[in-house]
Amino acid sequence: MLKDSRIYVAGHTGLLGSALTKKLKSNGYTGIISKTRNELDLTSQSEVNDFFKNEQPDYVFLAAGLTGGIIANRTYPATFLHTNVSIQDNVFDAAKKYNVKHLVFYGSSCVYPINCPQLMKEEHLMTGMIEETSEAYAIAKTTGIIGCKSYNYQFNTNCFISLIPNSMYGPNDNFDLEKSHVLSALIRKFHEAKMEGKESITLWGSGNPRREFIFCEDVAEASIFAMKNAEKLQNTHYNIGTGVDYSIKELAMIISRIVGYSGEIKWDRTKPDGAPRKLLDSSKFLNLGWKPYTNIEDGLKVTYEWYLNNITIAKEIAC
Ligand SMILES: NC(=O)c1ccc[n+]([C@@H]2O[C@H](COP(=O)([O-])OP(=O)(O)OC[C@H]3O[C@@H](n4cnc5c(N)ncnc54)[C@H](OP(=O)(O)O)[C@@H]3O)[C@@H](O)[C@H]2O)c1
Repeated sequence: MLKDSRIYVAGHTGLLGSALTKKLKSNGYTGIISKTRNELDLTSQSEVNDFFKNEQPDYVFLAAGLTGGIIANRTYPATFLHTNVSIQDNVFDAAKKYNVKHLVFYGSSCVYPINCPQLMKEEHLMTGMIEETSEAYAIAKTTGIIGCKSYNYQFNTNCFISLIPNSMYGPNDNFDLEKSHVLSALIRKFHEAKMEGKESITLWGSGNPRREFIFCEDVAEASIFAMKNAEKLQNTHYNIGTGVDYSIKELAMIISRIVGYSGEIKWDRTKPDGAPRKLLDSSKFLNLGWKPYTNIEDGLKVTYEWYLNNITIAKEIAC
């Protein structure tokens, strides 16, 4: 990627897209193209084709898509499937048609089977049943992963790059208690409990499941690294994680400390825990020379600071 290459960041208002835009700008890239959803609805094939025809981007980071937590996934599976498949399908096809040099697509760790051996390796894809609540989203993401592979194979190119980040967190995340991912929901819960002077806070499950989280700016760095090292990549997907996991209990303790909540943390064991562990094996990508640099405490401090400074926006996004 040259500093003046035309780089389209799809989904620049989101968690990953905003981190990508920030990193690209700070690395001196000047040709960044972004469009809001109102300006360009990526589920519309004609809008996407017109955009690629007019803008002729050289590189694309496809960080646009519909994401959400357990409740949203369970309530709107058809919307999750339709939105994500349409966006991928339209953008992949236009990228091929208008000769994009490289495109980075993002899968998700929920593409791996519910009973996946740990650590989860790239070759575990499609080796078992996936978790029911995120089935539609996971199938859409699997379609994208296979899509990248298929376009590369059929058109004898290495244009399409498929990365599978584990759960991300950071500034510009969604802090809605129903729609958000676990870390942003925890930050908001602890913050509100502190402000309301609550003596205790009750969290779902036993707190024992272990999860891996990665700061959005580390995924942005990994994505830029992948673009620059596309020649070294094989025609397959790559896991992107930190290699370190924490129990939900440990994460709750860290967040309560950062937020400054000193009440009791109770666990509602009538609520489901989900898989006991979800840790990616990212060695294939790490062996190419990339490494994550943000530890969880630092990343969560930055995220909480952003939440405090943008509490109105965070609530508006949530609505
Ligand atoms: N968050 C995670 O933990 C995680 C983990 C693994 C993979 N991923 C994948 O990484 C990508 C980025 O995730 P994220 O968490 O950054 O998502 P996000 O914060 O929800 O942002 C999604 C972005 O996509 C845009 N968008 C949604 N529908 C669109 C449409 N029809 N047309 C144009 N733009 C549209 C949104 O625009 P608006 O602002 O207008 O809504 C927003 O900018 C997604 O593909 C996701 O599946 C995420």
